[in-house]
Amino acid sequence: MHDPIEIAKNIYWIGVNDYETDLFEAQWPLPEGVSYNSYLITGDKMVLIDTVKKTHLSQYVEKIRKLAGDGGTIDYLVINHMEPDHSGAIPIMKQLFPEMNIVGNKKTIDLVKEFYGITAGVTTITDGDELDLGSHRLRFVLTPMVHWPETMMTYERSSRVLFAGDAFGSFKALDGGIFDDEIDRSRYDDEILRYFSNIVGKYSPMVQKALVKLKGTDIRVVASTHGPVWRTSPEYIIGKYDIWSRYIAETGAVVAYASMYGNTLKMAEAVSRGLSLGGIKEIRMYDVARTHPSSIIRDAWRYKGIVLGSCTYEMGLFPAMRNLVELLQEKGLKDRVLGIFGSFAWTGGAVKNLRSFTEKSGWRLIEPVIEAKCAADGHQLDECVRLGNSMAKALSA
Ligand SMILES: Cc1cc2nc3c(=O)[nH]c(=O)nc-3n(C[C@H](O)[C@H](O)[C@H](O)COP(=O)(O)O)c2cc1C
Ligand SMILES: [Fe+2]
Ligand SMILES: [Fe+2]
Repeated sequence: MHDPIEIAKNIYWIGVNDYETDLFEAQWPLPEGVSYNSYLITGDKMVLIDTVKKTHLSQYVEKIRKLAGDGGTIDYLVINHMEPDHSGAIPIMKQLFPEMNIVGNKKTIDLVKEFYGITAGVTTITDGDELDLGSHRLRFVLTPMVHWPETMMTYERSSRVLFAGDAFGSFKALDGGIFDDEIDRSRYDDEILRYFSNIVGKYSPMVQKALVKLKGTDIRVVASTHGPVWRTSPEYIIGKYDIWSRYIAETGAVVAYASMYGNTLKMAEAVSRGLSLGGIKEIRMYDVARTHPSSIIRDAWRYKGIVLGSCTYEMGLFPAMRNLVELLQEKGLKDRVLGIFGSFAWTGGAVKNLRSFTEKSGWRLIEPVIEAKCAADGHQLDECVRLGNSMAKALSA
């Protein structure tokens, strides 16, 4: 990936792959890396769209030099998003190309000053403004809180490329292919949804606003700051974002459990058996202590049914379950059906906490709720099967 790759006439991908960073935003695992996509528009003017993380500068600058020439200049840097995985190279870019004008909305320009102390050579645009580059013309579409306050998109009118910032992005580095038609998409699907649900999902109402704003815009290429460039089926990724940000789910269930000694696990297995007997094939059982919450949240976004079961730990939820429940609450996922169960030995606490999560979530609770003392007896295990079965009915309705 040492060479710039043309994504449309005179528009190049000059992104970099990061295979070294283990945790995105210091919390989301990157088992297969991530790409930071930046783009360069050539022609009458040289225009950079976003930059990359400062850890990957040399490769980035090398690609810019290949297009701009050794003594060449950059006229503009358009900033769609200020998170440092895209803005980190701004100070160096400014040093290398002092005449480069930084273009962003008011909130962007404020952040450029606050992150990097840069105040000179900046241009503030507002929603719908256009920048005439001669051979190209850019239109700026403000999309606040997808997922930062300054986030915006830039639409290139001649080739109809939408530079979307973080929207429509994905975890996973680009292993050779960068376009949707060059890759095995099934290798990305999970990471696209894990990215959406954990990074963008909380801002679903703002995603909906952005999609409404883009309605009627002829988009031929979706160029995000992470993951594949969608030139063959941009409607695929736009359609997915529409579905996910409206909380539309597939038939299936996530059964997430916390168990130290296997008693609560036994209950979880009985619930899953009930789901299966009810005809549900898509069942994802996760031990919350051993599965990163970002993967559980991904499947909670995918499937309509969510079952949470926890043993009691120091009068409350098992810590990994408490963390999951807090994350689910924070993400604001809507329109799910929920099953809960748990166990305790002396005080109880797990089920009580799951009940209070139920109220806050606004999800539909499926009966029965099962609470076992120490080990579930035969009747309670039958009740767990019944819970799975009732949920299956609710999912299939
Ligand atoms: C460190 C620790 C703390 C616990 N705290 C509580 C508690 O506060 N109240 C309670 O009723 N049970 C408590 N328990 C007991 C467990 O909830 C109980 O043994 C349960 O059956 C364990 O389920 P499991 O086999 O799925 O791990 C605790 C157990 C451990 C190991
Ligand atoms: Fe971001
Ligand atoms: Fe990003």
